[in-house]
Amino acid sequence: MEKRILTGLKPTDNQLHLWNYFGAIKPMIELAKESQDAEIFLFLANMHAFTQLHNGVALRQNSINVLKLYMACGVDLSRFVIYNPADVPGHAQLNRVLTCITHMGFMERMHSYKEALDKWKAKEMGVGTFCYPILMAADILLYDADVVPVWKDQKQHVEYARDIALRFNSMFGETFKVPDVHIKSDVGTIIWVDGRKMSKSYNNYIWLLDDGKTILKRVKQIPTNAQTVEEKKDPDQCNVYHLCKLFLTPVEDDALRKRYQAGWLSYKDAKDYLYEKIMALLIPIQGKYAKIADKEIIALLEKNAKIVNEIAAKKIQEVYKKVGFTLKV
Ligand code: TRP
Repeated sequence: MEKRILTGLKPTDNQLHLWNYFGAIKPMIELAKESQDAEIFLFLANMHAFTQLHNGVALRQNSINVLKLYMACGVDLSRFVIYNPADVPGHAQLNRVLTCITHMGFMERMHSYKEALDKWKAKEMGVGTFCYPILMAADILLYDADVVPVWKDQKQHVEYARDIALRFNSMFGETFKVPDVHIKSDVGTIIWVDGRKMSKSYNNYIWLLDDGKTILKRVKQIPTNAQTVEEKKDPDQCNVYHLCKLFLTPVEDDALRKRYQAGWLSYKDAKDYLYEKIMALLIPIQGKYAKIADKEIIALLEKNAKIVNEIAAKKIQEVYKKVGFTLKV
């Protein structure tokens, strides 16, 4: 069998921002190009988003919008199998099995649980939040994934998936493949208008669907040093340069560095250049996004649910037999 790469995206917002593009979408597209022999499963982690978002209309619309954006950004549907785990009963079924062989101590050690404890008192925390990594392990093990690309913050969750796969295998016999974790390389800490990483909680983001006026306003807010126009500048010390760099080919990058170093590049010029680059990326994405209908996404998910359900149902049959849920052997 060819290698299977699997990852999920959590639709907690109804849009994606530029950092999602550079940090998640673009690397996935590149990974698909680099791994021609691999099959790539990409799913909506909406059952994970449900730990936080208890609004059916919003969760559904977020999921559709996020998938439309992935498609508008150029995710090649002949390479990616995109699906919704809520259409595949195996995710919840395996979640049940894994829940019963996981000790609470395991979950209590998770960074995500500790972070959630800072926000809520344990008694007020959703049990789904506590057990978040178990559903994630089910997502992974159901399909015998070989590699799971995630951000650093999710590494511990994939390690738990590995541990629980080994535990199940030792209790009930060889059943699950133990997946490798692939940590997505950081695209540099993308600093934004306020010098912090782009995030909804800091209100310092640029949505992929923002209009030119909103984007220009954000770009103007980027803090710069107080050097005069004629002064020679160190590009590495400039926030605007760091953002520009994301968009540039090596040749363009070299040319921009030289302009900084030569002097006579004003911060306004640098910002105008950044603004142009952002718009050149986003205008085609926004054009494609507008042309994708919700029903196209729904049809795609229906088609792919059938494909992945065949794999998942087989695995569940095997697991249910081994643990004794199925009476007929
Ligand atoms: N928890 C992941 C995130 O927040 C999303 C996710 C859910 C996931 N299930 C997964 C990622 C399985 C990889 C594999 O980004």
